[in-house]
Amino acid sequence: MKRLVVIGQGYVGLPMALRAAHAGFSVIGLDTNASLVEAVNAGRSHIDDITDEELTSGLNARYSASTDASCIADADVVVVCVPTPLSEDGGPDLGPVEGAARTIGAHIQAETLVILESTTYPGTTEEVFAPLVLGSKFRLGEDINIAFSPERIDPGNKTYGVQNTPKVVGGLTKECSRAARDFYSMFIDTVVEAKGAKEAEMAKLLENTFRHVNIALVNEMLRFCHELDIDLWDAIDCAATKPFGYMAFRPGPGVGGHCIPVDPSYLSHRVKARLGYAFRMVELAEEINTAAPLYVANRLWKALNEHKMAVKGAKVLLLGVTYKPDISDRRQSPADPLGSRLLSWGADLSYHDPHVPTWSFEKNGNSTTLTSVDNVYDACAEADIVVLLQQHSQYDLSRLASSSRLLLDTRGVMPAGESVTCI
Ligand SMILES: NC(=O)c1ccc[n+]([C@@H]2O[C@H](COP(=O)([O-])OP(=O)(O)OC[C@H]3O[C@@H](n4cnc5c(N)ncnc54)[C@H](O)[C@@H]3O)[C@@H](O)[C@H]2O)c1
Repeated sequence: MKRLVVIGQGYVGLPMALRAAHAGFSVIGLDTNASLVEAVNAGRSHIDDITDEELTSGLNARYSASTDASCIADADVVVVCVPTPLSEDGGPDLGPVEGAARTIGAHIQAETLVILESTTYPGTTEEVFAPLVLGSKFRLGEDINIAFSPERIDPGNKTYGVQNTPKVVGGLTKECSRAARDFYSMFIDTVVEAKGAKEAEMAKLLENTFRHVNIALVNEMLRFCHELDIDLWDAIDCAATKPFGYMAFRPGPGVGGHCIPVDPSYLSHRVKARLGYAFRMVELAEEINTAAPLYVANRLWKALNEHKMAVKGAKVLLLGVTYKPDISDRRQSPADPLGSRLLSWGADLSYHDPHVPTWSFEKNGNSTTLTSVDNVYDACAEADIVVLLQQHSQYDLSRLASSSRLLLDTRGVMPAGESVTCI
């Protein structure tokens, strides 16, 4: 039986570890967060896509979590799924990746395959990760194989999960690529070999930059379409009927999560640092998508104004403060800058989210905490204006519309009605 260690037991690492355990691997999920490890071992999942029952079934198979890195010495394969956030100056923060690589380097034995899955700029696996793993003791491709394989998990996606999402692998040598391909082929339906690690790293950044830029395109078009009295949502639906050459992206209140607002910055930072020039598409997309929540605030101000109301003192109810529907992940959610702006304008702010019992966000450097209202439809009836930020599937959209005096729809999903305005 193959022994696998998955470092980082978050949104990416835990589903990967459980999938491998069910495929017959003996898996240890390593994490530096002791309370997370304790909860996981007690069968309490912190991940939306993993139920407690699924976690318990993994624990009953061959999975357990640990904080003890000495298990790396016995591993045949080590997969790294630690965060890759931005530093204070907006550049890549490779601290967790370097930390994980040092931990591996301290324990690893010959004949181990090590794979980095954390999203990062091209060159990280070769220049930063591999030297810390290998140290002076091991030779690449002879003692230790090292590869990069981007994680493509889409939290909340009921169709595509770990097993049926094709996996790209790129090794630092041909032998490394082959070893990584053979490993994933044991529990993932389709494995695609990239030319090398840099190409695999770039593939992931291309995917996320593509989304970032296309979301920015429609977010920018939204503004002038509104001014020109053109229904962009309808135009997008029409364009989407073309069976080739077009892919529909829809406007919204801004981008969030660990990927879209973060990963393209890794790429633009790399281009600037290595080549000295800007990746202008990414910078422009960032500018437009960062401004999207403030555009929503302005549209709310305008909607109230048309009904002879000021934002100051108005009862504003936000629906859905996560960054996408049907999950509880709030990282980089556009609800935060929107909430902060509305509070600074004096709004009487409340929110509802079935996945977020309490919502904390920063306003002028201070933390504000709100509690979700109990009955969303009663709260809609009491609010001067309701803003739909996420269309969680629990929401009865027709009932939301009929309960609200004024509803600003940032997703273009509400049924048409007198009370409803699309951003
Ligand atoms: N969340 C997503 O939807 C998603 C999708 C695709 C790719 N990714 C990428 O996958 C990577 C992981 O993201 P995530 O969402 O799973 O992060 P996460 O924050 O949910 O989980 C990361 C875990 O790693 C642990 N950790 C941090 N440093 C560690 C170390 N040195 N040793 C051991 N454990 C450590 C943390 O305690 C945490 O539990 C990131 O690079 C991200 O960009 C995320």
